[in-house]
Amino acid sequence: MGQLKTKHLLGLESIDKEDIKKIIDTGFMFREVLDRPVKKVPSLNGLNILNLFFENSTRTKLSFELAEKRLSADVINFSASSSSLNKGESFKDTVQNIHSMKVDCIVMRHPTPGSSIHLTDFVDSIIVNAGDGTHEHPTQALLDMMSLKEKFNNLKNLKVCIVGDILHSRVALSNIFGLKKMGAEVMVCGPQHLLPLSIENLGVKASTDLEEAIDWADALNVLRIQRERMGVGLIPSIREYNDQFGITEKKLNRLNKEVVIMHPGPMNRNVEIDSRVADGKSAIILDQVLNGVAIRMSVLYLLLSGSVEEVK
Ligand code: CP
Repeated sequence: MGQLKTKHLLGLESIDKEDIKKIIDTGFMFREVLDRPVKKVPSLNGLNILNLFFENSTRTKLSFELAEKRLSADVINFSASSSSLNKGESFKDTVQNIHSMKVDCIVMRHPTPGSSIHLTDFVDSIIVNAGDGTHEHPTQALLDMMSLKEKFNNLKNLKVCIVGDILHSRVALSNIFGLKKMGAEVMVCGPQHLLPLSIENLGVKASTDLEEAIDWADALNVLRIQRERMGVGLIPSIREYNDQFGITEKKLNRLNKEVVIMHPGPMNRNVEIDSRVADGKSAIILDQVLNGVAIRMSVLYLLLSGSVEEVK
């Protein structure tokens, strides 16, 4: 058993506030490790972690791999594009074969919503969801909350607006679940047809007026238009989208207040966010990336460190 109430990290809808708080607090502990000259601790020495990626990734994949190595785990990387999936092997056979090699934890990204929950039916390793289609991306929301806590010191009553393509976003859903549990206020803002129906039932405000959103928010978490997950034609043109929902200096300067700017990446510069904003003094986008390594160290340590004690 690990040190959390949950065995796996499948999403933030299914874990409680105490587990979220513990992951963020431990994330700050590992942030200090990342500031040391030698950024490695022996916590997961002797454990095997498999990174099972069926979808493209830069930040999440590298960040998990760095986190695992900095915890001294043994790391195996699986890439779907160079695997026997291309010879017709099924998802179930693939993961059961890998699991027979005795891995302690599987970190999986997959384009199908619910795939990490499905994985728990096939293997008894600890599962960490690294993004499953439009469902959840829990470690992204955890690193976002850690970055907000670092900036504002507290999440309670903080006003966070998630801007953009909410309908296709696993980042939005995990942030909503996490932030609400931690007592923050959440607004979503975007074109009407990219806001899920009845999103207010999750306890969030919804708006199609970016000026209203900027006026309300302490922080904006800006999402990209996820063209790989939408059919054709959901936005009329990039230029129109940028005019109406792109975060620009001009729109931010209209109001006499500072708003913290976040983005989970990858960014489409000058579409959902202008370069001057992305590189400006209010942006904490690269802090989010650094905190991503710390939060993933925290998640893996808290889920797996009980296993190390049992082995000893
Ligand atoms: N934020 C995020 O999930 O980025 P990648 O798709 O590059 O992992």
